[in-house]
Amino acid sequence: MAAGADHDHVIDTGKGEFDLSELGHLMPGMAEIMPLVGGRIWKCYYAGKAANQALARFQLKEAVNLMEKGAFLRPKYAENMDKFISEEVAAVAKAIEAEDWTAFDEAFTAMVDAANAYHDVYDKPYLRWKIPDAPPPDLDMTPRR
Ligand code: HEM
Repeated sequence: MAAGADHDHVIDTGKGEFDLSELGHLMPGMAEIMPLVGGRIWKCYYAGKAANQALARFQLKEAVNLMEKGAFLRPKYAENMDKFISEEVAAVAKAIEAEDWTAFDEAFTAMVDAANAYHDVYDKPYLRWKIPDAPPPDLDMTPRR
């Protein structure tokens, strides 16, 4: 049940207070979530390049969790996000499961192209994500056997 004006709860952050009914405005939107998706997808790519199946699988799953969170908080993206996850992302996941790193490369390029096509759809053609030239510096990509 949504909290009405006559029934609210005060949230005390320790630094100040706000009403529970204002919580929605404080939840992250795509502007906050998407850069996190980019970070996961970057790690997924270089994990695949290092043939590190467990890490590539983990990073892709975390990226999907973030995309689903974005679509949950911003339902206008839900339909296209579902389509993207069940098509382009699924092809990358399949290649990871098969440890087919050639197919991974192809599926990855198609996924990034599709992501940027969605950025176009949402009137942001200037947002063209690209795989960074170097692996993320904060995580060892070497597979553990
Ligand atoms: C591989 C998948 C994707 C990656 C790596 C990615 C990456 C990014 C990044 C890094 C940004 C922020 C750019 C910036 O502000 O500096 C962004 C913004 C955005 N992305 Fe994606 N994206 C992906 C897929 C998608 C999909 C599938 C959708 C929609 C169905 C989408 C919708 C958006 C929107 C609407 C914004 C603008 C958010 C805002 O208002 O600031 N993205 N994306």
